[in-house]
Amino acid sequence: MKHSIRKGMLLSALVGAFLFTSGCTAGMAQQPEHKQIAQQQEVKAAPEPTCTPEVGGKGIAAVEEPEGPLAPSGKSVDYYETVEPTYVDGVLLVNKEYALPRDYGDGEDPTAYQALLKLQRAARWAGYSMDLMSGYRSFETQEELYNDYVAVDGVEKADTYSAWPGHSEHQTGLAFDVGWVDLQFADTPAGRWLANHAHEYGFIIRYPEGKEAITGYQYEPWHIRYLGVELATKVHQSGLCLEEYLGLV
Ligand code: DAL
Ligand code: ZN
Repeated sequence: MKHSIRKGMLLSALVGAFLFTSGCTAGMAQQPEHKQIAQQQEVKAAPEPTCTPEVGGKGIAAVEEPEGPLAPSGKSVDYYETVEPTYVDGVLLVNKEYALPRDYGDGEDPTAYQALLKLQRAARWAGYSMDLMSGYRSFETQEELYNDYVAVDGVEKADTYSAWPGHSEHQTGLAFDVGWVDLQFADTPAGRWLANHAHEYGFIIRYPEGKEAITGYQYEPWHIRYLGVELATKVHQSGLCLEEYLGLV
């Protein structure tokens, strides 16, 4: 189902979440995605005030709060039972604003996985190993991972490198962590090969350097997202991150 997108909301949510949670880029750079842990903090999208001229007769604007227990995203836990996947121009979009339902996905997308195998073969021919470090992750797996990161690193830091449950691209089955889950991977021959050739196999580097305020995440030179060769090549050549390419910012 295609949902309408509110550009302003996306930008403010992503920039707000990033700015709120950043300030630790140097420290977080060395943290492998699976190994970092942090403590939880609620990072809520700004609630939209309801225009209620008179509350208690004092003209105080009422604010709509999610009901019941809250997820790390600040949305109600129940939200993830009914939320529908968001497609923009046919592209499944998952980020800090757009979520997947709890029961979405059951493994790697077969087309994306075949493309990954091709990429790995090509990398090997070029002399580099490009091992798969993490592929599909269920909502529950992401929840455990995120909570572990929060317990060790704190929420602010965890939010710069780990998605909230329901907000990870790994749940789409279209995203893979390959090579070395460390920022230093970008400066290795294998990391450079990936950055230069991933699009030829249908992938983009989903969280590029310099786009942290838009994606909401630190640079992840190891995290690739399948879009198909045509679109991945266009996004790669544009120099834009996916949110920008799709016209959401
Ligand atoms: N590291 C990416 C953002 C994830 O947790 O999905
Ligand atoms: Zn990843």
